[in-house]
Parts: sequence; structure tokens; C-alpha cells
Amino acid sequence: MKVLFATSEMFPLIKTGGLADVSGALPQALSDIGVDIRVILPNYADLKSEYIEFKKSIGAIEILGQNVEIYKANIKNNNTKVYLVDHPVFSARHGNPYMGPDKNPWHDNPDRFGLFCRTVVAFAMGEFNEVWQPDIIHSNDWQTGLIPALLSESKAPKKFFTIHNLAYQGVFDRQTFERLGLPWTLWREDALEYWGNMSFMKSGIIFSDLVTTVSPTYAEEIKTVQYGYGLDGVLKNKKDKLKGILNGIGGDWDPATDIQLDINYSSSDIKGKAIAKENIQKIMGLTINPKAPLIIHIGRLVEQKGIDLLIQAIENLANNEVQFAILGTGENRFEQTLKKLALKYPNRVAIHIGYDEQLAHRLEAAGDAFIMPSRFEPCGLNQLYSLKYGTIPIVHRVGGLADSVIHALEETIENGTATGIVIDYLDVPAIVWAIDYFIKIYQNEELFKKIQLNGMLKRHEWVISAQEYKNLYLNILQEL
Ligand code: ADP
Ligand code: GLC
Repeated sequence: MKVLFATSEMFPLIKTGGLADVSGALPQALSDIGVDIRVILPNYADLKSEYIEFKKSIGAIEILGQNVEIYKANIKNNNTKVYLVDHPVFSARHGNPYMGPDKNPWHDNPDRFGLFCRTVVAFAMGEFNEVWQPDIIHSNDWQTGLIPALLSESKAPKKFFTIHNLAYQGVFDRQTFERLGLPWTLWREDALEYWGNMSFMKSGIIFSDLVTTVSPTYAEEIKTVQYGYGLDGVLKNKKDKLKGILNGIGGDWDPATDIQLDINYSSSDIKGKAIAKENIQKIMGLTINPKAPLIIHIGRLVEQKGIDLLIQAIENLANNEVQFAILGTGENRFEQTLKKLALKYPNRVAIHIGYDEQLAHRLEAAGDAFIMPSRFEPCGLNQLYSLKYGTIPIVHRVGGLADSVIHALEETIENGTATGIVIDYLDVPAIVWAIDYFIKIYQNEELFKKIQLNGMLKRHEWVISAQEYKNLYLNILQEL
């Protein structure tokens, strides 16, 4: 079984969010259980070249008048083989894969990712100098959404599509559809057409043999008007071919081996965690106090993540000892408000604006709790990392957060299943309530340790989810 995994970001080469973590870890886990899988992604200018080895060209072809080349390479220390799609729209542009320095999407994103999709299809049709050919193309999110449509006339390879976030759909106007040279047979309501526009995401859903999303609860939610972002009807029609598989924790996220930490620790020897906390309090300018509860947050500063609600909740807290350490980058309005908040409470609110992989790991180790008041969350990875790092997750009961955190109630505390705090109805008072509840738990050392340990002992390794993907691959290969 040969699988080509098409993605727009992959850790450690390039990362803006969870998709990169998944693209870095899932193919590796699948390969460990016997799937011959390779990854294809754009050759961005800022790919971290120190992780790339044995790079060689497998040829160049012309696609819609554009010269596109593919390089084959290996990722160091990872065993994953990758194909890098090379064209100046990727390799001559620095920065974020999706947006310019002004934080607006690159104006030619549909052309860039349209070209990427066409190149992946050309590869699968044997147009490059490569003997390896996929039986399945596993596409991910809107950037790869045209791949299944472009292959809709062919029985092979099979088309597998994963939705990581339905809020980003790749919707563009009709002129774009024309410019991309797509056949008019695709301009239909049961194809790419979406309220007079074209949708990459809809294309991926409609033309795939199987669609998955990154948690069982999100797979249900997206069939409703509230979370379906206009595609709930399409997804309901597809319901027999729609499955939810929870993401896992990649090998880089383990406090026992994490190379970003000063001192490693584990459930049987947790001393290193207190040191990580003291270090973060020092680095980020918080009062150095082992007794003050430290709540962390890491994430893209966008509405999805509920950062606006968190800011208001922090303002409304009565407790003046609890500390917050926040790492994120995103919309200017949130960045500015967070900076002001840190100025107002210098000893107990610390903000680092920017993207910092090492700091993310150190924060996970340092925190007593991780707060994630997302309005919706397809899976969410930081709550999984937090469980493993002994950092109690405080989350909203949606998507993958609902599937991975068990609320501390008398009953779940008693039977040893409680792993965190789960908010049922999300608003500012509910977040204030959840933080106060956490502080109470924190002040009861025995209870805190118990819940912390329950989380640390939970298993969310990728191999478990990889097995589910493998079974689905086998299923679609058997279908005629
Ligand atoms: P999403 O994909 O919606 O952004 P996830 O929880 O699935 O959310 O994954 C986010 C990933 O990106 C995590 O690995 C998290 O640690 C990382 N991350 C997000 N923001 C930052 C940042 N500012 N610096 C470092 N890592 C970040
Ligand atoms: C998306 C989602 C996030 C998920 C990630 C990886 O970015 O927002 O919830 O964990 O993809 O699947």
C-alpha cells in the first residue's frame, strides 16, 4: 500500500500550527506500522534546510505554461521521504506560507495552491521521473482540496481527505475558477461551485472516497449549522464516508526526552517541572514564587481560540496571585490588548508575541494549567501535550477538547479518570469560574497531584490513531 500525503506544512520543515505537527508525526507513525508513505509539500523559501538531506531533482514539467520541478529528499533523523514542489511562488517568497508581512493572505494563494494540486496530480499520473507511484493520495485541508477533483475521472489513485479546520475553506471568485483552467464540468453545485464562488474545501470533500476529520466530536459538529461553516449540508450528504480520528502526540513532545527542556521529568520523577516553572517565571519576568498557580496559553491569536474571552476573564479575576504566561502570534488587535494587559499586571501576566518553538516546550513544562477556551476546536494539540507534561488542561467542551479531557467531578475524581476542567457553556463568567475552580484544586496538593498524574498516564501516542488511518486506507483500496 503506497500513500502520498499532500500537505501545505510539515514539522520540522515549516510550521504555523497543528497541521504541521500532524504532517510530521502521522506519516512516521504509519510507516512504523508498515505503510509505505511519502509526503509532498511546496518547496517554500523558508523550509529549514538543516533538516533536509539527499535532495535531488526528479525532473521538471510544464503545467499551464509554468515550469514546475520536484525534488526528492529525506528528512534527517526521521526516515520520512518527501517530495518538494518547486516554483518561484513558493521558493522565491519568504515568510509565512499563507500570508504576507501585512498579515493578509498572499493575493495569489488560489494560483499557488492550485499549481501545487496540479503538480501532485501530475506526479501521481507518472509525469515525473519517479518509479514510486501512490495507490492513495491523502490530502489535507483546503490547500490540497483540488487534488480529488482533478482526479475525479480516474479510479486510481484513491482519494482520501482530512479536514483539519473547516473555518478556512479556500473560497475564491468565478474569475479565479476560470484563471485556474478548471473544466466547466466542475462548476456545479454538486462540485466546486459555492454560492457563485469556488471552494477548494468543498472540492476535497465531494470528490474524495473518504473524508476524515481530527476528532470524533468534530466529525459530528461539522454536520450542524453552528459548526458547519456553510458546508454542513455537503457533509451530511457525505455522512457515511465521514469519520473522526483523534490526533496523537508526536515524539518531540515528551517531558522525559524533550531536548528543549533544561531538566527532563516524568510521572515517576516530576522534580524537573518545578524547575521549569521557576525558569519561566524568571525569563518572562513574573514574580518568582513556586506557590503561585501558573496558567499558560500557547496559540494562534485568532477568534477561534477564545483569546478575547480569556483576556476579559483575566481582568475579572478576584485572585491576585494566579499568574499567566501567554505565547502567541496572530491578529494585531489581540496582540495589542495582550501587551496592554501585561503592562497593567507586570508581575503576574507575561506575554511573548511571536512564534517560538523552544518557548512553547518550556511553557508546557512550566505550567500548572493550560487554558484553551476555544469557540471550536477540530482537535487541538496543546491540551494533549499538556496532559503529557502534567499541565492540567482547562478547556471548552467542543471538538477534540471534549474527546480528550475528562472533567473533574466528584465521581471522576473518585474513580481516577479526571484529567482537567471542562467548560460546558463558554463565556467570560464560565472562564472565571473554571480558573477559580482550578485554583481550588491547585491549593489541595493531593487532589492536584492526582489529576495531574491521571493526565500524564493517558496514552495518546500516534500509533493508536495511525492504525485507524491504516484500516481506512485498506477499506478504500478494497472498494471498486
Ligand atoms: P491550530 O492548528 O489550530 O493552530 P493546534 O492546537 O492543533 O492548533 O496546534 C498548534 C500547534 O502550534 C502546537 O504545536 C503549538 O504548540 C504550536 N504553536 C502555536 N502558536 C505558537 C507560537 N506562537 N509559538 C510556538 N508554537 C506555537
Ligand atoms: C487545525 C485545528 C486544530 C487541529 C490541527 C491539526 O489547525 O485548528 O484543532 O489540532 O488542525 O489537526
